[in-house]
Amino acid sequence: MKTTISVIKADTGSVGGHNRPSEAMLAMAREQVSKAVKQGLLTDSRVSATGDDIALLMVHTKGVDHSDIHKFAWDTFVATTKIAQSQGLYGAGQDLLKDAFSGNVRGMGPGSCEMEIEERAAEPFILFAADKCGPGVFNYPLFSAFADPYHNAGLLLAPEMHNGFTYTIMDVNHTEADKVITLKVPQDYYDIATLLRDPNRYVVEKIVENETGLIAAVASTSRLHNIAGKYVGKDDPVAIVRSQKQFPSTGEILSPWALAHYVLGDNRGSHHVAVMPVKQNSIISFFDGPTIVTAAGYCVHEGKLTEAVDLFDQPFWDVIRQKAAQKTIDMRSQGFFNPAMGPQDEMEYTGVVKNLERLDKKFVKRAGETAK
Ligand code: F6R
Ligand code: MG
Ligand code: MG
Repeated sequence: MKTTISVIKADTGSVGGHNRPSEAMLAMAREQVSKAVKQGLLTDSRVSATGDDIALLMVHTKGVDHSDIHKFAWDTFVATTKIAQSQGLYGAGQDLLKDAFSGNVRGMGPGSCEMEIEERAAEPFILFAADKCGPGVFNYPLFSAFADPYHNAGLLLAPEMHNGFTYTIMDVNHTEADKVITLKVPQDYYDIATLLRDPNRYVVEKIVENETGLIAAVASTSRLHNIAGKYVGKDDPVAIVRSQKQFPSTGEILSPWALAHYVLGDNRGSHHVAVMPVKQNSIISFFDGPTIVTAAGYCVHEGKLTEAVDLFDQPFWDVIRQKAAQKTIDMRSQGFFNPAMGPQDEMEYTGVVKNLERLDKKFVKRAGETAK
C-alpha cells in the first residue's frame, strides 16, 4: 500500500502583526486534524507554526492532488480564519485568496507539496517550512544537497547516488499553465545552474533519483502575487525531502542551510535578507523578518508519524543564526538602495509602480541632441 505525505500551509491571521498564529488557531487546527484521523481521512497528522503560518502535515492513502485532502485543509484554514476574526487578529484569512474551494488548493493561496511513496523499512524525511520568502528559497539548498559533493559527500562515497538526480523546475512567471523543464545531474548541471540562479522565476518542484526512479523531494511553487496580481503577502513555501540510504543523509540535506543564503522576502516581501534556520514555532520579529526556515525530521511507518526532531534546535545552528543576523544587518544597512530592496520586476506588484507612474509624468524630454 502506498503512503502519501501532504503538506499544506497558510497564513490565516496572526497576533501582534504578521508574527505568529494564536494558540486558539493552532488548537483549532489540531482539533480538525485529530478528527480527520479518527474519521479515517488521514492516517496521521501534525500541526506546526513557522512565523505567521500554520503547516498541516498530513499522511494518508489517497494519493497526491486528492480533492478530499485539499478540501479538508482548506476548511481547516477557513476555521482558523474564523478564530482569527473572532480574536481580532491581524491579516485574518490572508492566504485564502478565493471565496470558495474548487478542487485543489493550488492557485488558491496556500502553499502545498505532496509525494506518494512506497514506504521503505525505515522512512526518514524532513519537512521544511519557510516564512517571509518565495518558493525559490529552496533552489540553493536543494541544488547543493542533491547535486554538489561539497555538501553531499554521498555523491562520491555512496554508490547508490552515483547516477545523480532529475530535477523538475517550474517557470513560475508562466501563469496560464504549469510550465516545467526536466533536467538531470550530472549531465545537465550547468543548465540547472543557469535556471536556479534566478529563484524568483525558476523554482525546484521535484527531485527524483536516476538510479531507482524514487521520488526524493517536492517543494511548493505557488507565487501569491501571480495569483492575486498584487502583493498580498509572501508565498512562504514548504518542502518535503526524503533522507538516508539512497538519498542524501539528513545532515547533508541540512548542510547548505549553513550558508544563510540571501533571498528576497522579509518586510513587505521586498527585501533581500539572509535566511535564518530557526527552531519550530519561532516567531517573526526584526523588520518583519528575518526570513526564517524550520526543519522537522520524522519517520513514517505504516502511515503513522513519529514525534518530530527539531533539526535546527542544536548548538551548531546558534552560530549560523548569529551569522544570518549579521548578514541581514549588513544588507539592511543599505536601506532601500538595491539590492537591499528587491529588483524592479518584483516591485511591480507593490505600490512602487504607482509612484513611478506618477513620477514618469513629471519627467521632461529635453529638446535637441541626446547626451552621449
Ligand atoms: C511580509 C509581511 C509583512 C507585511 C507588512 C505590511 O510577508 O507579511 O512584512 O507586508 O507588515 O503589512 P500590511 O500591509 O498588512 O500592514
Ligand atoms: Mg502574514
Ligand atoms: Mg507567512
